[in-house]
Amino acid sequence: MTGAIKIVGLGGSLTPRSSSLAALHLAVEGAREAGAETEIFDIATLELPMYRPRTDPPPDVQRLCEAVYEAQGLLWSSPLYHGTISGSFKNALDWLELLGDRKPAYLTDKVIGLIAAAGGTQGLQAVNTMEFVVRALRGWAVPLVVPIAGAYKAFDEDGQAREPQTGEQLRALGREVARAARRFAQNNPPPADEPKEAAG
Ligand SMILES: Cc1cc2nc3c(=O)[nH]c(=O)nc-3n(C[C@H](O)[C@H](O)[C@H](O)COP(=O)(O)O)c2cc1C
Repeated sequence: MTGAIKIVGLGGSLTPRSSSLAALHLAVEGAREAGAETEIFDIATLELPMYRPRTDPPPDVQRLCEAVYEAQGLLWSSPLYHGTISGSFKNALDWLELLGDRKPAYLTDKVIGLIAAAGGTQGLQAVNTMEFVVRALRGWAVPLVVPIAGAYKAFDEDGQAREPQTGEQLRALGREVARAARRFAQNNPPPADEPKEAAG
């Protein structure tokens, strides 16, 4: 592939000064460092009603779906809620069902980097949940993931990581998603589309 690749970040929560949003910003910064065009969708400012099949999608849903469809890579960042991803983040993912009729469908050939912000130490639970969704939507999760423990104390008021290592891990994930998305997109025409039922 020649030209710029696009990486879209999706995440955050309805909590003011969301730590999963701060983490997403740092990862997206990494993707930008690696030469990607980037765009961030903040769960708190998106107007996303609960997913309802067979309704006209509201403007923010259309905007999100178009950006995801155009992107070669995605960064997802959810808080850990009750051992899994938050309802608001899952609702955003549910709206990606609208990509089922696109060619190629869903997240075919897109590379996804996964981040979770947890109060405790079990952020991997949300990462693993997100990975199930990536696979159901035919995407490719990069092996590097960033589950952040004690997320309430991981970022300062400006959204910067208090521990340099946390910021570096997040930026490294962004760079890795950009690198893998570029590799994936090179000389890689989209496959003939599979029937929609093939999604998990
Ligand atoms: C409804 C709810 C459920 C939560 N469940 C868990 C949990 O199961 N495990 C955990 O470690 N933290 C849990 N937390 C803490 C959040 O993961 C933590 O505060 C995280 O930083 C939230 O991300 P945010 O700042 O982006 O909202 C929960 C918080 C809320 C509000």
